[in-house]
Amino acid sequence: MLSSVGERILERATAFITTFHQETESDGLSDRLATVRDEIDSTGTYVHTGAELLHGVRMAWRNSNRCIGRLYWRSLSVMDRRNVTDPADVAAALEEHLVWATNEGRIRPCISIFPPQRPDGGDPVRIWNKQLVRYAGYDLPTGGCVGDPAQTSFTAQCQSLGWRGEGTRFDVLPWIISGADGVPYLHPVPRGLVLEVVLSHPEHAWFEGLGLRWYAVPLISDMVLEIGGILYPAAPFNGWYMSTEIGARNLGDTTRYDLLPLIAEKMGLDVKARSVLWRDRALVLLNEAVLYSFNRDGVTLTDHHAASDQFLKFIRNEEHAGREVTADWAWIVPPISGSVTGVFHRAFDNTIHTPNFFYNHDAWLPRTASNGCPFHVDSLRQSE
Ligand code: ARG
Repeated sequence: MLSSVGERILERATAFITTFHQETESDGLSDRLATVRDEIDSTGTYVHTGAELLHGVRMAWRNSNRCIGRLYWRSLSVMDRRNVTDPADVAAALEEHLVWATNEGRIRPCISIFPPQRPDGGDPVRIWNKQLVRYAGYDLPTGGCVGDPAQTSFTAQCQSLGWRGEGTRFDVLPWIISGADGVPYLHPVPRGLVLEVVLSHPEHAWFEGLGLRWYAVPLISDMVLEIGGILYPAAPFNGWYMSTEIGARNLGDTTRYDLLPLIAEKMGLDVKARSVLWRDRALVLLNEAVLYSFNRDGVTLTDHHAASDQFLKFIRNEEHAGREVTADWAWIVPPISGSVTGVFHRAFDNTIHTPNFFYNHDAWLPRTASNGCPFHVDSLRQSE
């Protein structure tokens, strides 16, 4: 007799494994389903084969409604780390992931999979960072912030564990990893592992003087991967950047680096006159600088026009394969020049399919009913 949790896992496992066999044209579906059923019956869970894991993570990317880069879902590589639990060993595995993915700028999409959540709801491994590379944010006593305001809470966690940053606007944060006991382990990231791009502008020499930079590899480390009823709370993954993520959002948002007033001023624009569109003009200049600098250094990056075209191609490919793409319009449409990209003029169904990636509660906050019951992936949030 399966428990209700077991029933739930079995139901999801059956759906996933059936799809896996169909899409990969593998034999032995009924044998595999029987094995999985027995395994859930005796252990409360089941173990994915390597092939299921690989196809499962690719499906999870393919199902990520907010991602415009999904044309490349088949290129995702897996580092199978399901036997790694000691935080120091996790850190070593993450270093390998970062180096392999960076590939001296020719970025390769990759995901590392650490052990799944146990049937009792315990997490064998958690990575506390939102991304493996992020810049610290220091709240100033006088108000305001040095660095990335989105990272002040995590930065405070690092400091409470004894970490001290240099205090610049671009201090790379250390990793915090906990094992089954939940005790945080602090691991400074070796500087040489973090590829960064110094931002300059092809026409404006003053731009480099702003001292801006960004890192090469967006490597999200705090989401929960769900495949066939199994939750992987530590499954960090990376692709490459779309220029507007950096040039519009990270450096431009008023709640982030808020650089548009400074850039507009350097451009000699009148920031009091709304009609000169100084924010818009500063945004374009900043995005030019991001594109130019990443290209100059040979670091993979896509611009929003190419990304939009690629996404429309992804939709066509999926239609040929007999699948309908689900997507979140507000996230797919780029944050600048929306209506000159093709995706703007489309409507999307935002139904969430699994396998997929879900938000988790911050590792340093206690679990509450509102931030996700460990057993039910349905209650894991897809919105913040
Ligand atoms: N928007 C996030 C950032 O700016 C990264 C999200 C993932 N992006 C990606 N291109 N894979 O850091």
